[in-house]
Amino acid sequence: MPKLILILLFLSSANVFAVDKDLNTGLLIAPGWELVRMHCGACHSYRLVTAQRADKEGWRSMIQWMQETQNLWEFDAITEEGILNYLSNSYPPQANRRRAPIAKNLMPIM
Ligand code: HEC
Repeated sequence: MPKLILILLFLSSANVFAVDKDLNTGLLIAPGWELVRMHCGACHSYRLVTAQRADKEGWRSMIQWMQETQNLWEFDAITEEGILNYLSNSYPPQANRRRAPIAKNLMPIM
């Protein structure tokens, strides 16, 4: 019996380190995620948000672009900071998001 309990404990702790995702929006659950759920899903899919990567300045300039040209509303300073911290921590720049080039021997013969 104790062995079974140990196994169950082990299995149930297996995804303790997995990052949780909100099933409705696909947003990673981390501090500030509700702000993004509240402010970033009205005009386009959350997919557009989660597919993007940038540092804090990059996210800031995307938001400014939407405010200047796409009718995105203004945020108070605390809200904006929360949104930018969440986005730059959860969706930071990635070094190389493209696949490696296809090997020459796999390319069509020209
Ligand atoms: C008032 C409407 C509106 C809201 C609210 C909005 N956006 Fe956008 N956003 C747009 C429009 C319009 C586009 C351009 C969509 C397209 O190209 O199809 C866009 C594009 C984007 C893109 C793609 C830009 C790129 O360069 O790849 C990202 C990322 C994005 N929005 C993130 C956000 C985030 C984060 C929030 C919340 C802070 C947000 N959006 C809230 C209107 C909005």
